[in-house]
Amino acid sequence: MFQRNVGKRVREAIQRRLLPAPVHARHSMYSMLFSEDDASSSPSERLLDLSLEAIRCARQLDLGDIVQRLRGRFRFPDCTINLWSGEHYRLLAALVHVLRPKSVLEIGTAEGISALALLQQLPPEGQVITLDIVPWQEYPRSCLTAGDFHSGRLRQIVADLGDPYQCAKYSDILSHSDLIFIDAAKDGVLERKILENFSTKPFETRPILLFDDIRMWRMLKTWRQMRLPKLDLTSFGHWCGTGLWEWTGSPVFGTNGEGQPR
Ligand SMILES: C[S@@+](CC[C@H](N)C(=O)[O-])C[C@H]1O[C@@H](n2cnc3c(N)ncnc32)[C@H](O)[C@@H]1O
Repeated sequence: MFQRNVGKRVREAIQRRLLPAPVHARHSMYSMLFSEDDASSSPSERLLDLSLEAIRCARQLDLGDIVQRLRGRFRFPDCTINLWSGEHYRLLAALVHVLRPKSVLEIGTAEGISALALLQQLPPEGQVITLDIVPWQEYPRSCLTAGDFHSGRLRQIVADLGDPYQCAKYSDILSHSDLIFIDAAKDGVLERKILENFSTKPFETRPILLFDDIRMWRMLKTWRQMRLPKLDLTSFGHWCGTGLWEWTGSPVFGTNGEGQPR
């Protein structure tokens, strides 16, 4: 882990020296653009319809109730959570509004902001299960309170789905999920492991999955090589990449890990 972080910092320092940003922004990262005609998959009709509905819905939503919880605890202004497009929280709430899922699974609770966004439009019979390797009570600057868990509509599980044994342990939750939001390490390794572990599980549902940060350097390969129907929704989600995709039961990656041209 330490070596990987040092490698990342050295690579970023070299990139910044060789290719300085042409404009200034509060936060900037390196990414790369790829042609679409030789991409390994394309969006399905279901993804296109869902996206159009979710975008329409996200325009109307207001996450002011979540903004009020932040009280200046981050380096960015509290109202950033309600920024749309550019941030993904309103899109998350909108997807829940449109899909009306019984079960939402989130991988990566952190401070709980996305869990709260997923909860905001959840139907009365629905549940959000959020998973992290760190319990929410121990997470610095958490926006969650014990009261958020009282109704049972929000539940946290401390687990690592990158581990095949832990993934098997929670396969019942996985197989009944209607919407899965993956926002964990984004190191290009964990996300791949999670998807490979998912591939061995039979889904009772045909879940919709959302990937955060697909345009970050270390996520480019995983996103590009995924062969399931997918749609890059970055312009309507998170500025560093939002990817929507659909579970079909087919292998996520090619047999050699590479995507095949469509
Ligand atoms: C970017 S944060 C999530 C942010 C949160 N979804 C939000 O938008 O408010 C990433 C989180 O993933 C968690 N994480 C890292 N590796 C993980 C793993 N293997 N399984 C589950 N969670 C993991 C980290 O502890 C961290 O809390």
